[in-house]
Amino acid sequence: MSQTVHPNRPQCTAGAVADPATLPLMPLDLDAYCAANQPRFLAELVELLRIPSISADPAYAADVRRNAGHVAGAARAAGFSVVEIVETEGHPAVYAEAITDPALPTVLVYGHHDVQPVDPLDEWVSPPFEPQVRDGRLYARGAVDDKGQVFMHLKAVEAHMRTRGRLPVNLRLLVEGEEEIGSVHFEQLVETMGERLTADVAVISDTGIFARDVPSLTVGLRGLAGVEVEVRGPSLDLHSGVFGGAVQNPVDALARMLASLRDPVTGRVTVAGFYDDVVEPTEAERAAYRSLPFDESAFRKVAGGIGATVGEEGWSVLERRWVRPTLEINGIWGGYQGPGAKTIIPAHAGAKISCRLVPNQRPDVIGRLVAEALHAATPPGVTCEVEVRHGGNPVITPADHPAVRAASRAMGSVFGREPVIIREGGSIPPVEVFQRVLGIQSVLVGVGLPDDCIHAPNEKFDLDHYAMGIRILARLWDEVAAEMGDQRRVPSADK
Ligand code: BES
Ligand code: MN
Ligand code: MN
Repeated sequence: MSQTVHPNRPQCTAGAVADPATLPLMPLDLDAYCAANQPRFLAELVELLRIPSISADPAYAADVRRNAGHVAGAARAAGFSVVEIVETEGHPAVYAEAITDPALPTVLVYGHHDVQPVDPLDEWVSPPFEPQVRDGRLYARGAVDDKGQVFMHLKAVEAHMRTRGRLPVNLRLLVEGEEEIGSVHFEQLVETMGERLTADVAVISDTGIFARDVPSLTVGLRGLAGVEVEVRGPSLDLHSGVFGGAVQNPVDALARMLASLRDPVTGRVTVAGFYDDVVEPTEAERAAYRSLPFDESAFRKVAGGIGATVGEEGWSVLERRWVRPTLEINGIWGGYQGPGAKTIIPAHAGAKISCRLVPNQRPDVIGRLVAEALHAATPPGVTCEVEVRHGGNPVITPADHPAVRAASRAMGSVFGREPVIIREGGSIPPVEVFQRVLGIQSVLVGVGLPDDCIHAPNEKFDLDHYAMGIRILARLWDEVAAEMGDQRRVPSADK
């Protein structure tokens, strides 16, 4: 690990400048503290990762709750003065506060303490909730998505508290327990918390960087719309010899209905109205994406060794993942799956479908359009039921926000290279809630890697990224104070 000395550490130019906002920052104390304590930072994260906080499975509800308690304890230990478990109608969230001085900028840090299910379990090299370090990487469910990255924030706060006794900003921390199930009660939570979430900007570490040697800041996330479809034919499984040829087969019908949703030649979704609200990226943005060092063969490798990429005609691989909407089948079932053959016409079949959305698409609208398309494509002899699922809105955050500049400097100084600006294809619905409900913009400062296997077996967090992430976030608060503190001083200076 390389966290002890950094070549890009700002040099002190004593007496050269008078304005505190332009003084070089002195993160030496923070870096030294982090370096000295990194083994403990790892040991503590390992303890959190032992708790199976799977939000999707009701059988783990007590573990999600225990996990919230553990995060609350860690926040208290880090030096937050107010720490609370906040109940929702689902899994609890954790809220914590470290208010230094009302005159300083206030940052809302968001993350999630729940994790994805672990199946297929037999593909894990070490069990998902028995964290193991191999080759400088920590393997466990939630290692990077998002417990490890939440822990970076706690340790960065601890570094400030233990070296300087206070933070250079006010911090509010909100760690929810339902992100992986669509943040179902989040808007309600935000509304009930009201004033306590007042902040100048939000900082979120729940994304990755472009590539190992290409740090990046994310300014766009796709939204999500989901539907579940059930096709029913005969009221019982039928003998496929006695009835076959005269009865509509629900599996066959479903296959054709699903196939009708996309044009196999252009790769475009054929659902009527699907693209109506799509805002296309500017030519400047497209040019910026073309200039990124995208390595298609590396992408195919982390995508599980696929032989070719596919997608919507006229758009690059990055654009297909970041700025274009998609429709994916996430699961499909029906008929006989056991050993050998069973000659039946199954009584029913079903599928789970999700769409990734871009501005200005809305999940309720897209869910309804997909449902209508499925109904319209249902052949005679079967019926179709479609349920529209809770989704999330897409979001774009301003790349020219002062906190993005602050994050760029913090990240650039630790990586030794200025971050590029990217979007991501994944979804974090709360980012859009902060923007729409609270009027707060978010800066996405994550340090995951494309090969971290989030949501998959053998999820991992590179330990050097864990250490760098802590140093970046510790520095970030100095940079935010410099960028945004100055901004806030202007009005009072004018009086
Ligand atoms: N942290 C991810 C989202 C993410 C991953 C953003 C990688 C950018 C890069 C988050 O935990 C997640 O998995 N979100 C879900 C949201 C859904 C359940 C509403 C997703 O994207 O599927
Ligand atoms: Mn996440
Ligand atoms: Mn996730």
